[in-house]
Amino acid sequence: MRLLVTGGAGFIGANFVHSTVRDHPEDVVTVVDALTYAGSRESLRGVEDSIELVEGDIADVDVIDPLVAAADAVVHFAAETHVDNALADPRPFLHSNVTGTFAVLEAVRRHGVRLHHVSTDEVYGDLELDGPTRFTEATPYNPSSPYSATKAAADMLVRAWVRSFCVHATISNCSNNFGPYQHIEKFIPRQITNILTGRRPKLYGTGANVRDWIHVDDHNSAVRAILERGEAGRTYLIGADNEQSNLAVLQSLLAIMGRDPDDFDHVTDRSGHDLRYAIDPSTLRDELGWTPARTDFTEALRETVEWYRTHPDWWAPLKDATESSYSKRGQ
Ligand SMILES: NC(=O)c1ccc[n+]([C@@H]2O[C@H](COP(=O)([O-])OP(=O)(O)OC[C@H]3O[C@@H](n4cnc5c(N)ncnc54)[C@H](O)[C@@H]3O)[C@@H](O)[C@H]2O)c1
Repeated sequence: MRLLVTGGAGFIGANFVHSTVRDHPEDVVTVVDALTYAGSRESLRGVEDSIELVEGDIADVDVIDPLVAAADAVVHFAAETHVDNALADPRPFLHSNVTGTFAVLEAVRRHGVRLHHVSTDEVYGDLELDGPTRFTEATPYNPSSPYSATKAAADMLVRAWVRSFCVHATISNCSNNFGPYQHIEKFIPRQITNILTGRRPKLYGTGANVRDWIHVDDHNSAVRAILERGEAGRTYLIGADNEQSNLAVLQSLLAIMGRDPDDFDHVTDRSGHDLRYAIDPSTLRDELGWTPARTDFTEALRETVEWYRTHPDWWAPLKDATESSYSKRGQ
């Protein structure tokens, strides 16, 4: 397959590129990435001789059109992704997530190319903290933040292009990812690198908010399964049955890193902070036979801590600026 990976220099996209080069050497991989603050050539170090990396904006038709024309399939990860940044300035989220997805859709329509659109469970809003309900493919959209609203808009565009123009597209909505190459503004790497740099970890509010954590390799193996065996026009929810409160995740990290369980600061909660996300992944398991491999959460966290401990060159140059923007927001 000739694969075009949008956002392949970001966290999940870069991991997808690494696993594709390793497990599918027959594929020809091109990455298009605007290399925003969230994307990095360094994340593709080690595979740079096996792929082509094009620096460019997916919303720019002159960039995206020839790249799509030369591909058999597009895996669309590119997006602005950090909720806190969306609260501070939503405009880039409209550009990349909505206008960017529109440009990708028009290009795959023109050239008859297969598309897999990567989205988030945050489009469904949140769930009661202790309820039994989980998100399914039938859950109505109810986004809370400018990030999730723009991802929801992108999903709706994909659905409309499937229905109106018979674009051959699938969508996946995944829960919270963790693993190597995740920007240190995100919850898990922020806490790990705070500890590694002698800062105290920071917990929003009481830490009761629940997320359904999945290792990035499991997300990407599901994306690959959908790309190969998914039915056009369908949405698949990706999750690994791993609900954890933010407090529980932080205390697991503190234990792994040899700290006391209360060695952290409470900081101002995120505005409109979603309470709980939880995915029912049974369609993906039953229809496509996908199962997550990284089901030992503590072990996967331990490996993630080890990755950040051994890759300070990748994250240390970003640390002071990241913490300074958090501290300006009182977080
Ligand atoms: N991180 C998660 O937990 C999670 C969970 C579910 C779904 N997702 C989705 O997965 C995708 C990837 O998320 P991530 O965590 O890797 O994000 P990320 O922020 O780490 O990476 C996004 C990448 O997209 C690039 N990009 C942004 N705007 C662009 C544009 N206009 N043109 C070209 N490139 C652009 C950035 O430079 C960056 O490399 C996103 O669509 C996100 O909504 C993420």
